[in-house]
Amino acid sequence: MAPSYKIACIGAGYVGGPTMSMIALNCPDIEVVVLDINEERIKAWNSEQLPIYEPGLEEVVRQCRGRNLFFSSDTTKHLAEADMIFVSVNTPTKTSGIGAGKAADLTYWEGAARMIAAVATTPKIVVEKSTVPVKTAEAISKVLKRNCTDPSVTFEILSNPEFLAEGTAIEDLRMPDRVLIGGGDSEAGQAAIKQLAWVYAHWIPQERILTTNLWSAELAKLTANAMLAQRISSINSISALCEATGADVQQVARAIGMDSRIGSKFMNTSVGFGGSCFQKDILNLCYVCEGVGLKEVADYWMKVVTMNDYQKQRFVERVISAMFNTVARKRLAIFGFAFKKDTGDTRETPAIDVCRGLLADGAKCVVYDPKVTPVQVFRDLSAPKFEWDRPHGWGKSERHITENVQVVADPYACAEGAHAICVLTEWDEFKSYDYQRLYDSMVKPAFIFDGRNVLDHEALRSIGFIVYALGKPLDPFLQKSY
Ligand code: UDX
Ligand code: UDX
Ligand code: ADP
Repeated sequence: MAPSYKIACIGAGYVGGPTMSMIALNCPDIEVVVLDINEERIKAWNSEQLPIYEPGLEEVVRQCRGRNLFFSSDTTKHLAEADMIFVSVNTPTKTSGIGAGKAADLTYWEGAARMIAAVATTPKIVVEKSTVPVKTAEAISKVLKRNCTDPSVTFEILSNPEFLAEGTAIEDLRMPDRVLIGGGDSEAGQAAIKQLAWVYAHWIPQERILTTNLWSAELAKLTANAMLAQRISSINSISALCEATGADVQQVARAIGMDSRIGSKFMNTSVGFGGSCFQKDILNLCYVCEGVGLKEVADYWMKVVTMNDYQKQRFVERVISAMFNTVARKRLAIFGFAFKKDTGDTRETPAIDVCRGLLADGAKCVVYDPKVTPVQVFRDLSAPKFEWDRPHGWGKSERHITENVQVVADPYACAEGAHAICVLTEWDEFKSYDYQRLYDSMVKPAFIFDGRNVLDHEALRSIGFIVYALGKPLDPFLQKSY
């Protein structure tokens, strides 16, 4: 018998796709349909080549697709039938108009709400899944109620922020630290919370299902991402101090992480954090704070982003100054372009700013990443950040990019004839390469700039590489300034 409870999800992206797949896997008594306006994306979800790479995802999709998990672009039919509708559309930072560069662009969200209102003839529970600014639920509620032609239809809005991280999405969904459900105080609001909690209770222990009011759930999501990003900016700021003083950032991180009040996770220094959430959510948090007159609070959080930009710039400056103050016409092998390992996602990846910085100094960048396509690399390096963008000559024309950037499918081809290797993503495979072979094929002195501290620096030095590692005592060679 076909399941009688129906869930639809608007948005078949990094959040919607994996989350709905896991709900379908664990709830055979529920029918789950994932919808997207992008037909190509839906086609890919229905094919053997899923549109996103996520370890373990294929297996889950294979088990449920066609059983109780469907991917479709027929939004009208499925939204009309659904009892519960998740919205996990993209909420990028506004690039123009009021709040540009900070506020969340809710165009897609509003579009989704209007789609629901247009077809609803039965009561709906609408679940915010994508990160949204605090009080979005209120705005969405208005759009839904004012646009629905059938006045008897009721909408209950819930906030159920997703905390999965890319690369570990399936594991995070299988056993999340917590599931957070925010809802209204009314009887109907509480009933809606119960209904969503029932969905998760199919596989999540009751004590991990947390219920709050709507605003707390919305704010918790922004705050969680801001605090996580803050940890990275904090340790990255200390990495600069370590280089200046001869301390070792990994030793410092280990020592402080053993304090149970601080904890050891999320303390890896890096060339900078990336991803679709951290920067966007902090900017959003700052915008919300400014909106309610809390300038000091906004300034405080903004520093997390400033420090991240500083870390990327500092890395570029290290590369240039180590290589005798210029990288003009030098071939630089870029190992890794994704914003972290085990994903092909490049949104806000630090590699974009680092490559742009190196290109601005005249370098020739040759990129190798196991999962990022050449098209994506070129798109990322050519696209302006904002409509008014291109500060300080960091943006370059598309022609400049095509002439000076190359994307290759093999790490050895990438490094051949290069002056330096820059590690920008912590892919595991980077650790197991034959570095003697890489060294032999490079121009001397051969440099490695490890922006993730994943390589064996002593072994590299014994081969003959000049090694820069973030937050580590500097090679004597690098202590000279040119
Ligand atoms: C993040 C949050 O972790 C997740 O809970 C939320 O739902 C979405 O945003 P994600 O962006 O997928 O997830 O990846 P995450 O593992 O958090 O990494 C973000 C960035 O921080 C990456 O660029 C990563 O390389 C960097 N990072 C992470 C560090 O530089 N050091 C660390 O110690 C950890
Ligand atoms: C601190 C460190 O904890 C300790 O490891 C170090 O050796 C000395 O400094 P102490 O100052 O004695 O110890 O007390 P602590 O418990 O850390 O509290 C410091 C201040 O932070 C207090 O005013 C406390 O009220 C405040 N605090 C602490 C908060 O406001 N919120 C908290 O969650 C924790
Ligand atoms: P996230 O990382 O939050 O999942 P993505 O950009 O990966 O974000 O996915 C969001 C998806 O939402 C995209 O595939 C986009 O096409 C889809 N989308 C946006 N607006 C709508 C809409 N009104 N109806 C259906 N799908 C939408």
